Amino acid sequence: MTNYLHHAGHGVADHPATGAASTAKTPQHLVGNTPVLWIPELTGETEAGFWAKLESRNPGGIKDRPGLYLLDQARKKGDLAPGGAVIESTSGTLGLGLALAGMLYGHPVTLVTDVGMEAHMRRLLTAYGATVDIVDRPDPKGGWQQARRNRVAQLLEEQPGAWCPDQYHNPDNVSAYEGLAHELTIQLDRVDVLVCSVGTGGHSAGVSRVLREANPGLQLLGVDTIGSTIFGQPDRPRLMRGLGSSIYPRNVDYQAFSQVHWVAPPEAVWACRRLAATRYLTGGWSVGAVAVVASWAARTYPPDTRVVAIFPDGGARYVDTIFNDGYCRQHHLLDRPPAPQPDRLDHPQEREVTRWTSCTTVIDPAPRPRADVEAPSGSGPHHTGRGVENASHPDSPR
Ligand SMILES: Cc1ncc(COP(=O)(O)O)c(C=O)c1O
Repeated sequence: MTNYLHHAGHGVADHPATGAASTAKTPQHLVGNTPVLWIPELTGETEAGFWAKLESRNPGGIKDRPGLYLLDQARKKGDLAPGGAVIESTSGTLGLGLALAGMLYGHPVTLVTDVGMEAHMRRLLTAYGATVDIVDRPDPKGGWQQARRNRVAQLLEEQPGAWCPDQYHNPDNVSAYEGLAHELTIQLDRVDVLVCSVGTGGHSAGVSRVLREANPGLQLLGVDTIGSTIFGQPDRPRLMRGLGSSIYPRNVDYQAFSQVHWVAPPEAVWACRRLAATRYLTGGWSVGAVAVVASWAARTYPPDTRVVAIFPDGGARYVDTIFNDGYCRQHHLLDRPPAPQPDRLDHPQEREVTRWTSCTTVIDPAPRPRADVEAPSGSGPHHTGRGVENASHPDSPR
């Protein structure tokens, strides 16, 4: 594997343009070995920059990795019998990964989603052979997410032997990212600061765990959206998807984070559009949010600090949102770049944040058991009950 690598500038291992493994007999061998791209920090006012791991280069996106791994492990553990059905509530990235894994391993895949799924994604998932089961009305109490969960439960009951991966709480959704971390250690000699978006918590936990073995001083910066409960803020309707949640996924490794940043939609839009205009690189909400924070880290930390950001997906599905002027105007997302520095909180529950804000105190807002802890809108995060994701924005995380 390493014989096609050579050392280029900056002490960084580089793939020659024609050298990486590019011949595959099955599509799963196209998953992984994603490239890293140097991103000059987005204000353009300094010489600093960071490395972005481009997970859009997977056949689907970052969740091709857990899609394959979750199914493989379930088959090995006997949770999923040969040919058994896979049923999950998702509306995007994990759906793509599960469709890929189902095709390879021979399992029918049903993805329960709702009317909010973009036509683009629905058509892709159908083309990949998944059954897209659309919930057409929200649960009166728990909104769209609860309606989807109810539908998953109903389908699981109707199909004995069917299996649900449960990306929020299944630890295999963390282990699935070990390969990504090993790739980074080959591509970059070291990583000092890792910037990850957080939805289920899977990739931040999985990648940092492996990188810390070589670099115990690694700093992990978590990136969430405003209005998300994960790090202790109140649950609010959210525009940004992929990152953020209204529940407390067990896969979030709170102790691993040195700090958390909440980013607002106009700030992420600004970053996405800067990336497109300056780097020929498009991505979604989480890419924009992570780019805001990684840019800040690059220009703030000492110059020899190697900052690495994980970019989970590409921009195609966001042409009608982030890259649509009409949509952005309607939601007041244009021409509102992030401030040079984040606002600061001393404690995540000190006050509700509405713009880019950071906090170096990271707490688990719902100590275990938190799998099914509900965060009703406007309440503090200590209520118990069935987990309900944000009713207004049912497909985050994906
Ligand atoms: C596009 C996108 N970005 C970021 C995330 C967050 O990743 P994780 O669930 O590993 O925390 C997700 C999760 O669904 C996603 O789909």
